[in-house]
Amino acid sequence: MSKRVRTAVFPVAGLGTRFLPATKAMPKEMLTVVDRPLIQYAVDEAREAGIEHFVFVTGRNKGVIEDHFDKQYELEHTLEQRGKSAALAELGRELPQAGQTSFTRQQEPLGLGHAVWCARELVGDQPFALLLPDMLFKANPGVLKQMMEAYETTGGNIVGVEEVDPKDVSSYGIVARGEGPDSGFKITGMVEKPLPKDAPSNLFISGRYILQPEIFSILSEQTRGAGGEIQITDAMQVLIRSQSFTGVKYSGKVFDCGSKNGFLTANVVFALDRPDIAGPFLAELKKLKLV
Ligand code: UTP
Repeated sequence: MSKRVRTAVFPVAGLGTRFLPATKAMPKEMLTVVDRPLIQYAVDEAREAGIEHFVFVTGRNKGVIEDHFDKQYELEHTLEQRGKSAALAELGRELPQAGQTSFTRQQEPLGLGHAVWCARELVGDQPFALLLPDMLFKANPGVLKQMMEAYETTGGNIVGVEEVDPKDVSSYGIVARGEGPDSGFKITGMVEKPLPKDAPSNLFISGRYILQPEIFSILSEQTRGAGGEIQITDAMQVLIRSQSFTGVKYSGKVFDCGSKNGFLTANVVFALDRPDIAGPFLAELKKLKLV
């Protein structure tokens, strides 16, 4: 039987240059979609999938993420005194339990692969989930939970994938699809940002992974790849020579909230999905003749 996945890694040390100046002093992962920071969505998704240990790889200017997952006594006291019990209950519900969070720092943003490597001592010799918080999913059940179901059958490494317009494959990591259903098929190869004519499929790697700990020793020897950064896909391309990789074409849709277009679209889609917000929001858009 495969070792259970208890730990999730959240790399949150990037510079977020595409969102400057918003991200000059505030982490990209604290940008809100409707009324929740991106990082909260990712932690909720991990918790739904059974994760019990939340490892954050942070950097400079990211202290507020640690504060977000801490108790705020003054705020809670004030909410209690003002009888705002619903808001108070919500705050408590979202908090990981004491001792479930760990934080480490990536001293320089040398790339996603390097950020993951920085978590090696906290993760140890066990499989772990990797969630990129700027990739936000509308999916039920959550994407990581769907991937965990595949993991229980196949073990090994799991990668969440989604279809992209074939002409856009050169913006993404693309997998080559072997045998098996959407809920768990063999990945026979991976290629980073291929030309459309060279792409083995139009299935792109959308920011959710379950990885075996052998990835760490590969990352420790990894040299800089695309964009001068240490890339996780490069390390996975080495690991696939010795371990199985399963693709899960999950049901759901990703919004790339690291891009302005994806972030703004996610705000509209998530707002229209909220019973308490959709009606008044649509009415406002209609008044402005935007819909
Ligand atoms: P991105 O590729 O979106 O990079 O990172 P970025 O630096 O955050 O943003 P741009 O491209 O400059 O606008 C994907 C995820 O990996 C983390 C980011 O924080 C984000 O959650 N990351 C990236 C790191 O933790 N360290 C890095 O060196 C790079």
